[in-house]
Amino acid sequence: MKKIYFLLFHLIIISCENMVKKNKIMPLVTIEKKDFGKTKDGVNTNQFILKNKSGMEISVINYGGIITSWKAKDRKGNYKDIVLGFNNLSQYEAGSPYFGAIIGRYGNRISKGKFALNGENYTLAVNNGENHLHGGLKGFDKVVWDTKEVVNDSTASLVLSYVSKDMEEGYPGNLEVQVIYTLNNNDELSVKYEAISDKKTIINLTQHSYFNLSADFNKNILDHEILINADSFLPVDSTLIPTGEIRNVRETPFDFRKPKKVDEEINAINKQLEFGIGYDHCWVLNNQDKGLRFVASAYESGTGRLLEIFSDQPGIQFYSGNFLDGTLKSKIGGNYDFRSGFCLETQHYPNSPNEKDFPSVTLNAGKKYVSETIFKFSSK
Ligand code: GLA
Repeated sequence: MKKIYFLLFHLIIISCENMVKKNKIMPLVTIEKKDFGKTKDGVNTNQFILKNKSGMEISVINYGGIITSWKAKDRKGNYKDIVLGFNNLSQYEAGSPYFGAIIGRYGNRISKGKFALNGENYTLAVNNGENHLHGGLKGFDKVVWDTKEVVNDSTASLVLSYVSKDMEEGYPGNLEVQVIYTLNNNDELSVKYEAISDKKTIINLTQHSYFNLSADFNKNILDHEILINADSFLPVDSTLIPTGEIRNVRETPFDFRKPKKVDEEINAINKQLEFGIGYDHCWVLNNQDKGLRFVASAYESGTGRLLEIFSDQPGIQFYSGNFLDGTLKSKIGGNYDFRSGFCLETQHYPNSPNEKDFPSVTLNAGKKYVSETIFKFSSK
């Protein structure tokens, strides 16, 4: 009898040890690294696939830190790709409207590409009509980032690093940047941005994924219900530069304080919608003093997919894909037509360096820039 107890005891100990070992060998969130081909300048790139235990799968390439695919579950539990993008590197290099990319050094527009800092005038590339957009001719969306994978028991992170040289694209200061994508088992992706400069500079980093929660890129996004936790937005001029006014959303098509379908008012007669060819504006988010908080959501009733966004940023650019015109080939066959994807880009306000009343985008020498946005998926 004693022998049997002894044996049983040992069996239990061994199976416990195996369970622990198994967990160590097989973390619940994993990263797989693959080759993604060479850039036209001959630089090798990689694709990283972050996978969690429930089935979310996110592919990131180190060219532009681009999220090339993002599988999220519908109400039946099916995980499908819900972001616009391309199948290969050459398509991204040939010309992408910032699909899935990290944007820097300055997300969105700076009027005429000019700003002053410490009494010095700086001139940036003018790459969007008469304005500077999304970091210039070769912004962070077009550079190859260094990578490091960090896998823990319940999260997996891809750490992307890049050193932007003093005066690169016209911006002052050597800037060391890190963007950390972390996936957990609750279908949440955290995007953390960190940067430090050796000279006073300006910075406004964001993530430029185009979502279509139906997972059918041949459909437009007009039936998505958007909520933006903002009492006001920034009206723009005809070149999409904020006028400086902060306008209440009440009784305007810009009121998304309760979930509203994109097409409910997108065709209203409204000067701002005319300038944006739809929505392409920055909302002034509520609770700016609260740090990381809920800022916006998007819901697609056909599939039940819900995206909730949390951020520490003061603004969010809601862009309804108005410049997509059917000329780019989609991942699933067909083309990306007008409004087949939308962006919710958490950020500081456009043209802040030239608007003293907007929250500051100045980064002092030696001071650390830190920011975080979380994208959380579920279904209902
Ligand atoms: C941002 C801008 C848009 C457009 C897209 C990229 O969302 O606000 O006007 O430039 O990026 O096409």
